[in-house]
Amino acid sequence: MSNKEKISKVVEVLNTARSMELNGIVQYLNQHYGLGGDDYGKLAAEMKKIAKDEMHHAEAFAERIKDIDNALEPTAKLIPSEITKGQEVEAIYSFDAQAESHTIAEYGKFAAVCRENNDYVSAVLFEKIITEEQEHFNYFSDTDEHIKKLGSSFLAKQVEKD
Ligand SMILES: [Fe+2]
Ligand SMILES: [Fe+2]
Repeated sequence: MSNKEKISKVVEVLNTARSMELNGIVQYLNQHYGLGGDDYGKLAAEMKKIAKDEMHHAEAFAERIKDIDNALEPTAKLIPSEITKGQEVEAIYSFDAQAESHTIAEYGKFAAVCRENNDYVSAVLFEKIITEEQEHFNYFSDTDEHIKKLGSSFLAKQVEKD
C-alpha cells in the first residue's frame, strides 16, 4: 500500500471519530438543557462538563487531521441529522453509558487501524482519548445505578437551579 493510501485510511478513522464527537456534543448539550429545565442542576452541570470534554476530543482529532493531511471535512457535513431528544432522567444515563461503551470499542479499532498504517501518533491519541471516554462511561453507569437503586432520594439531591 502506498504512503498516500495509508494516510487516507488514518484520516478516514480520524474523521469518523470527529463526527462521533460532534454527535456527542450535540446529544449531551441537549440533555444538559433538559436536566437544567427539570431543575436537576447538579446533573446538568456535570453533563455540560462532559460535553466540553467531547469538544476537546473533536478539536484534537481535527488538529491531527490538519497535521497529517489537511483533509478536514467541513463541520456542517459531520453534524448529526438525528439526536435523541426529550429523554426522562431515568433514561439518560444508561443511554449515555451505552454510547460511551460503543465509542471505546470503536476507538480501540481505530487505534489498531492507525498502527497498521504506521501512524503511531494518531494511535496514541486514540488511546489517550479512550481513557477519558472510560471515565465518562464510569460516571454515566454509576449515575444510572444510583438512579435505579435510590430513585427519588438520589434525584432530590441533584436539584439545584443554575
Ligand atoms: Fe469524546
Ligand atoms: Fe465521552
